[in-house]
Amino acid sequence: MRIAITREVSPSIGQCKLTHLSRQDIDVDLARDQHAQYEKMLIDLGCKVRRLPEEPNLPDSVFVEDTAIVLDNLAVITRPGAILRRNETQSVAEVLKEYRTMFQIIDPGTLDGGDVLQIGRTLFVGNSIRSNIPGIKQLMEIVAPYGYEVEVVKVEGCLHLKSAVTLVGEETLLINRSWVDANSFEAREFIDIDPSEPYAANALLVGDGLVYPANFPKTCQRLEDKGYSVRVTDVDELQKAEGALTCCSLIFSI
Ligand code: GLY
Repeated sequence: MRIAITREVSPSIGQCKLTHLSRQDIDVDLARDQHAQYEKMLIDLGCKVRRLPEEPNLPDSVFVEDTAIVLDNLAVITRPGAILRRNETQSVAEVLKEYRTMFQIIDPGTLDGGDVLQIGRTLFVGNSIRSNIPGIKQLMEIVAPYGYEVEVVKVEGCLHLKSAVTLVGEETLLINRSWVDANSFEAREFIDIDPSEPYAANALLVGDGLVYPANFPKTCQRLEDKGYSVRVTDVDELQKAEGALTCCSLIFSI
């Protein structure tokens, strides 16, 4: 069985942190509707959704992915690179401790879950503006005894590694090569985003189901041309907060 931890969109999402995007008004009701559709899609894909209550004073808290790395036997609570996001982790840890042995990234390390791309037993970790080398080294030491390797990946021009590259099949990556070097992921198959859709590399793979944002039709067509059956959902209101599909859940098997 799969669990998906999510969190209701904060009423203060309009004050979210922005790094590469300009601020636009965010319609909280619309963002909540889109988020509810997203959760419904996760349920359709066999997940049990555990939705955390809204956090009125934590604008980015819908993006639960950044708060933890959940692996087979353990969970690592992160220390988000954005100071204003650090209070998001505790409520997620409370749920995760029901399922996993818990570890934590500590000062001076910083790590955002959006920078961690798992492919089998390898964790590719973006050395981004949010995740620093001390944080990545701590992760390496925590996961090594459990049989996971960590590879550091340079990421530039976007917020997180998973803004630039995500897994769409067992060994196939959807990638924006202007933000990450494909050579970092040796011997894997790549599908390039359409250059007119730079934010299109974030897809969410749930088992065999591939969830994809509705507003990148050209890249979506590329996936379909390669034989992928894509479930499309609208998340454009959440994207205004510099979040993406993977950011809105922590999915793991029990
Ligand atoms: N707004 C998402 C983030 O900056 O983490």
